[in-house]
Amino acid sequence: MSNVHLIDHPLVQHKLTLMRRKDASTNSFRRLLNELSLLMTYEVTRDMPMQDIQIETPLETMTAKVIDGKKLVFVSILRAGNGILEGMLNVVPGARVGHIGLYRDPKTLTAVEYYFKMPSDMPERDVVVVDPMLATGNSAIAAIDRLKETRPKSIKFVCLLTCPEGLAALQKAHPDVPIYTAAIDRQLNEHGYILPGLGDAGDRIFGTQ
Ligand code: URA
Repeated sequence: MSNVHLIDHPLVQHKLTLMRRKDASTNSFRRLLNELSLLMTYEVTRDMPMQDIQIETPLETMTAKVIDGKKLVFVSILRAGNGILEGMLNVVPGARVGHIGLYRDPKTLTAVEYYFKMPSDMPERDVVVVDPMLATGNSAIAAIDRLKETRPKSIKFVCLLTCPEGLAALQKAHPDVPIYTAAIDRQLNEHGYILPGLGDAGDRIFGTQ
């Protein structure tokens, strides 16, 4: 599990607990997801490359460090991934955004692609793929398979919640991709939902239950 980063900061854990509660409103679920994503971005971007620039302080010229936000691409797996984007863009407003549309075939639980749009120059970019739930791993694996065709410099995967089955599947398919999560729950149920989990993330974000 060396490439699994469990983000156990108390603020992250507290907000996740509030989100899991079945009586959390759509409004508060969305607000908490936004805050949590912002906090997780802090960990995910910890090793981001920096560059030196010359700036003027009120007193003198200095060489100071900045992140090249434009080289970073946040890739949302539609639709629930969009719930994470806003919080991440609050912290890295210069990042580019890609979208991958995948739906889960309810019978086979396999991922079927219906949309794929990335920025240009992917070989120069570091990619962070976002999806709140890493459950069977099928969507994440299909998304990363497809992304690797564009040859980005690096790929990380960020979710709120996962389970041993999802982690094992993604690590087997893409051992080179670090996984960032706020929790590793007990198991998947027979419908591909994480237990105890938080229910259907898309429905809870968009109020479509
Ligand atoms: N997708 C969800 O939204 N929730 C789960 O528990 C699993 C997959």
